[in-house]
Amino acid sequence: MSKLSHAQWSSRLTFILAATGSAVGLGNIWKFPYMVGDSGGAAFVLVYLLCIALVGLPVLVAEWLIGRRGQNNPANAMSDLAKSVGQPRIWMIVGISGILGAFLILSFYSVIGGWSLYYTLSSVTGAFSGQDADGIGALFNGMLGNPGLLLLGHSVFMLLVIGIVARGVTKGLEGAVRTLMPALGVLLLVLVGYGMTTGHFGEALGFMFNPDFGALNGGVVLAAMGQAFFTLSLGMGIMMAYGSYLGKEVNLLKTARTVIILDTVVALVAGLAIFPIVFANGLDLDSGPGLIFVTLPLAFGNMGGGVILGLMFFLLLTFAALTSAISLLEPVVEFVEERTPLSRVGSTLVAGVATWVLGVAALLAFNVWSDVLILGFNVFDFLDVLTSKYLLPLTGLMAIIFVAWVLDREGVRQELGLGDTGAKVWTLVSRFIAPLGVIVVFISSL
Ligand code: PFF
Repeated sequence: MSKLSHAQWSSRLTFILAATGSAVGLGNIWKFPYMVGDSGGAAFVLVYLLCIALVGLPVLVAEWLIGRRGQNNPANAMSDLAKSVGQPRIWMIVGISGILGAFLILSFYSVIGGWSLYYTLSSVTGAFSGQDADGIGALFNGMLGNPGLLLLGHSVFMLLVIGIVARGVTKGLEGAVRTLMPALGVLLLVLVGYGMTTGHFGEALGFMFNPDFGALNGGVVLAAMGQAFFTLSLGMGIMMAYGSYLGKEVNLLKTARTVIILDTVVALVAGLAIFPIVFANGLDLDSGPGLIFVTLPLAFGNMGGGVILGLMFFLLLTFAALTSAISLLEPVVEFVEERTPLSRVGSTLVAGVATWVLGVAALLAFNVWSDVLILGFNVFDFLDVLTSKYLLPLTGLMAIIFVAWVLDREGVRQELGLGDTGAKVWTLVSRFIAPLGVIVVFISSL
């Protein structure tokens, strides 16, 4: 029996806010731009957009549908639904691998949350003011080379996440999401405006939207697909858990469209804010995970009102990271709470501390453990690659296969409110295009 009380979201708007709070985070503002930079620009963006539309959308709908029908945590929901259609309970593995993925992702996500906290403080102390690219680069490398500092940032960030989840006040954040997310959007637009003054905006536009297909290969396509899953919080049971609180009257397709558009716009605008600065200062496009931390401070350090704008930006980025991190810890906590006699607070502590420990290993990869490699990757990169490129797409693949091939087709059609044509399109996309897309990407990357 689930200990969850199955309350429902008070409205469709509330649900959109919560789902957007999970989706929009470091994945959009930190990860997307550096992956575009690493992968050669517009060709990656194009594949990413295709993955969002043809794979991300159907998987998102599938996960919500499973959650809403199952009315339980992801593992139990999968197992109950499978049983209800005469299939083995082993389908619950989809829920369990999602929970494992959430745990692994949060460990390194929190390390970057810590960077964002440190940069919030650095903007207050005026550390960016008047700096050139070298000065900003030195600030960033100084942080990476200082395990104590990284540990402090990671620990504070995890404490915030643990504190919020332990009190079960996750839902209380909706109001904050409603005001702070738009504020973050406005700040990104201000930065795009700054980018226009650098004289390199056109170059950035071309880099992001004028594809050079020579840059495409199996690895780039796999990275784009992984990013589509990561940014939409798919393949981790999170959207399933959210779906379980969703009222019957909510239209899944329309809601998915709204969340996806918001998420995608934030990522693209973040790219448009960052690349003009890269070109204007002759920075490396493939700066990797440091990209936003070596570009945006340059802008803040050299524009009027930069101290206050920088402070606000990194505060809001930390907030966006927190709302995503909370959604990552929540399913892990629920899982521990259900399978052990521990209370809510006890479960949160166990899950939180375990995540923190793994995060410590991830942050040491930037300094003392930089030589420790797993299959050729340092611990941080290993966690990222394992989850984004493999675990999430595979789990999402099973979710869409389950909805498209295992559940009764007519019931799904009614639940999605589809007419004849809509049903045909849904069948084509959910049964063939999305699953085959994931499989082909996997095979071509090998
Ligand atoms: N979607 C979040 C982001 O883009 O930052 C990260 C994330 C949150 C991934 C929750 C997965 C997840 F379940």
